[in-house]
Amino acid sequence: MPTSQTAEPSSDIDLFADTVLDNPYPAYATLLAMGPAVWLEKHQVWFIGRYEDVKRVLTRPETFSSDNGIALTTAANQQFLDGTVLAAGGKRHVQLRLPLSKQLSARALKALIPEIRSRAVRLAAQATKQGEFDAVELVTEFVADQVVHLMGLPEATRPELVASAAAVFDMFGPDNARYQQSAPLAAAMMAFLRTEVSRTTVRPGSWMDALYQAADAGDIGEDDVVPLMSAYTTAGIDTTIHGITAALHHLAGPNRYFREMRAERLDPAAVFHEAIRLDAPVQGFGRRVTRDTRIGDTLIRAEQKVWASYGASGRDTRQWGLYADAFQPGRPGGELHLALGLGPHSCAGKRLALLQATSLLHALARSGTHLDPAGDPVRARNNTLHGWKTLPLKITPDGRSTRNRRGHDRTTTPQ
Ligand code: HEM
Repeated sequence: MPTSQTAEPSSDIDLFADTVLDNPYPAYATLLAMGPAVWLEKHQVWFIGRYEDVKRVLTRPETFSSDNGIALTTAANQQFLDGTVLAAGGKRHVQLRLPLSKQLSARALKALIPEIRSRAVRLAAQATKQGEFDAVELVTEFVADQVVHLMGLPEATRPELVASAAAVFDMFGPDNARYQQSAPLAAAMMAFLRTEVSRTTVRPGSWMDALYQAADAGDIGEDDVVPLMSAYTTAGIDTTIHGITAALHHLAGPNRYFREMRAERLDPAAVFHEAIRLDAPVQGFGRRVTRDTRIGDTLIRAEQKVWASYGASGRDTRQWGLYADAFQPGRPGGELHLALGLGPHSCAGKRLALLQATSLLHALARSGTHLDPAGDPVRARNNTLHGWKTLPLKITPDGRSTRNRRGHDRTTTPQ
C-alpha cells in the first residue's frame, strides 16, 4: 500500500497484461476515474494519467527524475538506460542532448525533404499498384530504411535493429515474461553498437559520424557515444512506424478523412497528431520521485516511482471533452497532446517523425481515392509501445492517374 493511514486510490490492474496491452483504454478509463494518482499494487508504482498531471510530471524534472527512474526496474535503469539522454538530468542532459538536437534540427532536416518525399511517393505508388498491402510492412520500409541510412549504418542491419529496438522498449516495463524474453535481444543491440560500430564503419556525414566528431571535439565523452547511438536506434524507428500506422488505421474505412486529405481540405499533420493522441506509440515512461510531493491531494513519497501515461492523457475527457475517444483530426488544440512528451525530455526527433508521417500520408492520399481495411489487424505486444504487428489495407487507385499530381504543398516542412 502507498501509505498505511490514508485511503489513497489503489488498484490491482496489471497494466502490462496481454489483454490490457491489446486494448488499454478500459483500464485507463477506470484509473482516470479513480483519482489523479492511483497506486498500482502489482507494479508498486503510482499511475498518473490525467492530462494536467502528466504535464506536471514531465515539466518538473527536479521532482520527477528520469535518472534511475525512466524504467520500472532498477536492473533496466542500470543496464540499458544509464548514460543515455533519456535517463540523464540537469547539465549532463543538456550536454548529451545537444549533438542529437543538431542532427534533428529544422535546418538539418530541410536537406532531407526531397529525398523523404520522393521515397514516400514511390512507396505510395507501389502500394496503390498492389491494391492490398500490409501497412506495417510499407511503413517499416519507409521509416526504418531512412533512419538506418541517416544513422550511417549498413542497410543490412535494419531487420536486426528493428527487432532489438522493440526489445529495448520492453525493458521499460516490469520484470514480466515479455521483459525476460526481450532482455537478451536488448543486450545484443548494445553489444552490436559497442563492437560493430566504429569511426571507420559509419558513413561519413551520418548521425553516428557526428557523434564521433562531437567526442573528438570534447563536446561529449568517448563513453557517451554508444548510449547516444542507442537513443537513435531505440527512439527513432518503432515510434514513428506505430504513429503512421495508427493514422492509417483510423483513416481506413467509411469516414471522410482520407477524401478530405486527398482534396487538401485536411492537413496530414492534423491526422498524424490526432492518431498519436488517441494511440500514443509510447504509452508511458517512469520517473523517480526525488522529494515528497503531491499530485492532487495524494502524497507521493520521495524514492517512490510514478508511471506517466502518455496513452491515458490522450483519452482524458477533462482535456479532450466528451468525444475524447473519437478520431477527429483538426480538433482545436489537437496538437497539444503529450504523445511526443513535454519539458526537457520532449521528443528530440519529432520534426523528423512529422516530416516522415506527413510525406507518406500525403503521398498515399494523392495516389488513391479510398483506403479500406483488407483483413483483421494484429496487435504488436510490447511493455511500452502500442501499435500493430500487421495492418492489412486496400487502396483504390485513382482511375484518372496514379501519379502524385499536385506535388507536396500539404506536407509539413520542419520548423
Ligand atoms: C511518432 C514518433 C515518435 C514518438 C511518439 C516519440 C515519443 C517520444 C516521447 C514520449 C519522448 C519523451 C521521453 C520522456 O518523457 O522521457 C521522446 C523522447 C525522445 N525521442 Fe521521440 N518519439 C518519436 C520519434 C522520434 C524520432 C524519429 C527520433 C529520432 C530519430 C526520436 C528521438 C527521441 C530522443 C533522442 C528522445 C529523448 C530526448 C531526451 O531525453 O532529451 N523520437 N520521444
